[in-house]
Amino acid sequence: MEICCIGAGYVGGPTMAVMAGKCPDHNVTVVDTNAARIAAWNSSTLPVYETGLDDVIAACRDRNLHFSVDIDEAIARAEMIFVSVNTPTKSYGIGAGRAADLKFVELSARRIAAAAKGPKIIVEKSTLPVRTAQSLKRVLHANGDGHAFQILSNPEFLAEGTAIRDLLRPDRVLIGSDDNPDAVAARQKLIDVYTRWVPLNRILTTNVWSSELSKLVNNAFLAQRVSSINAISALCEATGADVDQVASAIGRDTRIGPRFLKASIGFGGSCFQKDILNLVYICEYYGLSEAAAYWNGVLEMNDWQKRRFVRRMITAMFNTLSGKRIAILGFSFKKDTNDTRESPAAYVCRDLIDEQAQLAIYDPKVPAAAIMADLERLTGLSHQDLGGRVVCERDAYAALHQAHALVVLTEWDEFGDLDFERVLDSMRRPAFAFDGRNTLPHDTLRQLGFEVYAVGK
Ligand code: UDX
Ligand code: UDX
Repeated sequence: MEICCIGAGYVGGPTMAVMAGKCPDHNVTVVDTNAARIAAWNSSTLPVYETGLDDVIAACRDRNLHFSVDIDEAIARAEMIFVSVNTPTKSYGIGAGRAADLKFVELSARRIAAAAKGPKIIVEKSTLPVRTAQSLKRVLHANGDGHAFQILSNPEFLAEGTAIRDLLRPDRVLIGSDDNPDAVAARQKLIDVYTRWVPLNRILTTNVWSSELSKLVNNAFLAQRVSSINAISALCEATGADVDQVASAIGRDTRIGPRFLKASIGFGGSCFQKDILNLVYICEYYGLSEAAAYWNGVLEMNDWQKRRFVRRMITAMFNTLSGKRIAILGFSFKKDTNDTRESPAAYVCRDLIDEQAQLAIYDPKVPAAAIMADLERLTGLSHQDLGGRVVCERDAYAALHQAHALVVLTEWDEFGDLDFERVLDSMRRPAFAFDGRNTLPHDTLRQLGFEVYAVGK
């Protein structure tokens, strides 16, 4: 079968690479309007950093996996088209800051309708508000020369940093479809793709709306766990309990389970905030203001946690950060990814810049240009003004040189393995350590003479 995917991002790229690897007899073409991104997928420096991705790409690129800018040609050839374009939070007009911006999804649908020369199965991978498939169907049928289009919802549940593992061994694959015979036949074609490597009992079928809503609810429940434990982290700091001990104790209850209970400076990433905002917006649309307020609380807790971290730093460091060099370790929204979308690290950095701190930032995978671009956007400072307040360093030791404080904002493994004696020697005194991810060896640091602050401790 000829398969096409529109959108060569963090989801489209890895997902199609694994699919091509597992289905050598299908031909997969990933297209994108961003020519630089396609060029990067075709080079030795992939645009997405994921453990194991290089090997998967090397095994099938230019064999049955192709990255191309020729969108119309790929659409015309394909029998099945995945849509994996981004659906950011709307930044303008009605629902600005809350609703999902569906313009890229609609543009993709119009492009498919215009380029199609026969029937197509369209698979939505992008996260969408409920009932978007219905709109897609109308756009396609109104513009499509009478070709038959079947629309399936197949939300992606991979987490960045573990994308390849998640794709190879998913907890479940969810497929939403209508129940008429043509839709069921289309659904079966997609099931046949997945059963090449996923056991049939892990493939769930639902109606389209349940599938669309499940993606939002899945992320909302995960984010809610993080906000719940972060709320408790504040209580632990006030009372002398240890949030990791509390998490470990409650996680032993099999009804709760141990995962997603790590206190932090707050959650980030492209999905959690956007999807909860979306859920809140939908609840409000249907007049369910209590349900909307309930889920909005998860976001409020997340914002509070980020602000609280900065406030604690200021209090500890004699109520002023002005002019002090602060070493920031980690900028991505979690370890093992180069993605900085909605990274809590960026918001903490913004607040520290507001306090007139001098930041020395190091991240193992995020390029300096990406860090500066994010901070320019968040602070509104010009490139030049920001350059006077922020430097990006080539490693952690360089960032920590002559710093007043060591601040961990992303839990990269290498930060726990630093030579802390060497670090302390190069820092100013008192040497503060603020661990926003509870990943440093706190006892060792204290013995060496650091003043340590951790989340929920
Ligand atoms: C995806 C989903 O699509 C999103 O809805 C979900 O919530 C998370 O996963 P992601 O792959 O992370 O998003 O987004 P991104 O890395 O931004 O990739 C989207 C790609 O689509 C970009 O490379 C962009 O250039 C491309 N695109 C966008 C198009 O090719 N055409 C368009 O019209 C719009
Ligand atoms: C998430 C979902 O897990 C995935 O199923 C969905 O498809 C996309 O959204 P992702 O955003 O890539 O994936 O990462 P995830 O591992 O869920 O982490 C999200 C944020 O929560 C990160 O900033 C992470 O650091 C934070 N987090 C996670 C915590 O602070 N504590 C935890 O215990 C877990």
